[in-house]
Amino acid sequence: MKGKVCIVTGSTSGIGLVTAKELAKMGATTILVARDKTRGQSALTEVIEYSENENVELLMCDFSSQSSIVTFAETFKRKYNRLDVLVNNAGMMSQQRQVTDAGLELTFAVNHLGYFLTTFLLLDLLKETRDSRIVVVASDLHLRGRIDINNLMHTNDYNGFTAYSDSKLANLLFTYKLANLLDGSDTTINAVHPGVIKTKFGVEDRSSTKTFSAGRISPEEGAKPLIYLSTSPDVQGVSGKYFNRLDMEQSSALSYDKELADALWQKSMALCSLR
Ligand SMILES: NC(=O)c1ccc[n+]([C@@H]2O[C@H](COP(=O)([O-])OP(=O)(O)OC[C@H]3O[C@@H](n4cnc5c(N)ncnc54)[C@H](OP(=O)(O)O)[C@@H]3O)[C@@H](O)[C@H]2O)c1
Repeated sequence: MKGKVCIVTGSTSGIGLVTAKELAKMGATTILVARDKTRGQSALTEVIEYSENENVELLMCDFSSQSSIVTFAETFKRKYNRLDVLVNNAGMMSQQRQVTDAGLELTFAVNHLGYFLTTFLLLDLLKETRDSRIVVVASDLHLRGRIDINNLMHTNDYNGFTAYSDSKLANLLFTYKLANLLDGSDTTINAVHPGVIKTKFGVEDRSSTKTFSAGRISPEEGAKPLIYLSTSPDVQGVSGKYFNRLDMEQSSALSYDKELADALWQKSMALCSLR
């Protein structure tokens, strides 16, 4: 991976942190992204110590804020002239309905619009970089996702599990639609369910050491599919696919619904004030 530039979002903990450590160890210039300075600095130290690679940088971004995403993308583009791998991984689930400063439901804003806007703003650079890859960290819980296009914000019927499942279905609809749009370029995009992992996922106190109660496998094991999709020659040129860990599989029937994907795309463009 020497000479390549990789971004891993959500790299302060869990599978994002492990992925960043391994990409850096393989020699990639690795960009960590964090919303909290203390957690970001601690991840930066850990990645540099583990990888013995000095080409590791921390950039700040809160994916619940679109202006923060714009600033992050602009900062990155001022500093780097290539982007080989973008791992969209920062994600969350909340028992209570929360809204962003812009009034968007938080799970949808971070898990879907965060990936959507980040990718959109970095797409030119990805397309200019030979054989670049976008990795979308989704979940098998997309199988329970339904998405009511007229109730994307779960206004009156909030349930944390439903909002999360819908956001992960949105990840797949986005992946397949963008893969189609990228057809003919050598930028690939694939989605992955990493497994059910013992990370801080779903733990609301982000500085605690608690782990996801249903988590079964270690973050090191959970990160393997992200590292595989980011680096392996086996998946060179493979795009628009869903991986259940390392296996290419079909995702839910709804995730291939082109009308739903188009509608979600249009709404997402509008919600991100993009044309
Ligand atoms: N764990 C599982 O069983 C499982 C299963 C399927 C899919 N996934 C997916 O895997 C991805 C990584 O989760 P994980 O299990 O590694 O959980 P985790 O340990 O909780 O890591 C989540 C990461 O996302 C970051 N993040 C959350 N909200 C953010 C925001 N608004 N702005 C910036 N960063 C934000 C967190 O940063 P902070 O340190 O600042 O909180 C953290 O670095 C998620 O997309 C999740 O949906 C996880």
